[in-house]
Amino acid sequence: MKFASLEVSSPYFLAPLAGYTDKPFRKLCREFGCGLTFSELISVNALYYKNQKTYKLIERDKIDKPYCIQLFGSEPDIFLYAAQTVEPLCECIDINAGCPAPKVVKIKAGAYLLKEPERLFKIVELLKKHISKPVSVKLRMGYSEPNKNDFYKELENLGVDFITIHARLKIQQFKGEPDLVHVARVREVLKIPVVYNGGVDSFAKVKEIREKTGCEFFMVGQAAIGKPFIFEDLNDGEDRIRDIEFVKQVMMRHLKYMEEFWGETAVQKFRKFFHAYLKGYPNVKKFYNMINKCKTVEEAIEIIEGI
Ligand SMILES: Cc1cc2nc3c(=O)[nH]c(=O)nc-3n(C[C@H](O)[C@H](O)[C@H](O)COP(=O)(O)O)c2cc1C
Repeated sequence: MKFASLEVSSPYFLAPLAGYTDKPFRKLCREFGCGLTFSELISVNALYYKNQKTYKLIERDKIDKPYCIQLFGSEPDIFLYAAQTVEPLCECIDINAGCPAPKVVKIKAGAYLLKEPERLFKIVELLKKHISKPVSVKLRMGYSEPNKNDFYKELENLGVDFITIHARLKIQQFKGEPDLVHVARVREVLKIPVVYNGGVDSFAKVKEIREKTGCEFFMVGQAAIGKPFIFEDLNDGEDRIRDIEFVKQVMMRHLKYMEEFWGETAVQKFRKFFHAYLKGYPNVKKFYNMINKCKTVEEAIEIIEGI
């Protein structure tokens, strides 16, 4: 299906999640039918200073397409340099205007850009002038007050190809009910696609949000951690209950992809996923303790087999 100027196989997208959305996890979500993926937020300054670790974070699998690289920063010229550097490696550049982390906001990046929209407009203007691939903005619905219609209109006038709204204020962090009325209003005002984000964890939720906002595209964040198969459920319009054997198979596959990509550090990085996969199951404390102490992939495989 057409989405902005991209072709996507599904209207359900994987959110950028720092520390999670690496190449193995994006690949896994793709295999379950996710339509568009995002890198975790990538520092424009790190790209400017050619930090090699940063390049590892943006690597992607060949099936991971179309793929957006999300950048955060504050200086328009450095932003442009970074965007031009990574443009050949993706299908879309996404500007982060929503991250509430103090170390990001302090350098006038992320959600700070909502407080100083002129800076965000300047970045968008420069990118739209010099980047030929789509440029999008992922933002909060406001910093401490909801963004006004004029703000969104200006982004559209500057040529932004789509926006993603995390329907919470920056000051709410990740708490509180997402504001569907705000998103519905923005969707009515804009011609470009508006991707809904915030609390999508089931097809039942999608139906409710679609009805209340009119949005046709949805981004899934926390619900995909430990449940990458949610994309299959959303595509099929069915909230399945998966048995533990199925989940164990997914864990094995995920661990294998992580080992291929991260080598020795895979197990340590896999732990947080392991916890998420087993969340809600009874008597899992023993397995949590085991994985926390485990050092090798072989040991981790044994632990999964023993569940
Ligand atoms: C651990 C974690 C890391 C995140 N990292 C990013 C990030 O790098 N870039 C970004 O735009 N948003 C980031 N977010 C926000 C999510 O993309 C998303 O907007 C938010 O979690 C709301 O969606 P959800 O309710 O589906 O999780 C992060 C959220 C979490 C929980």
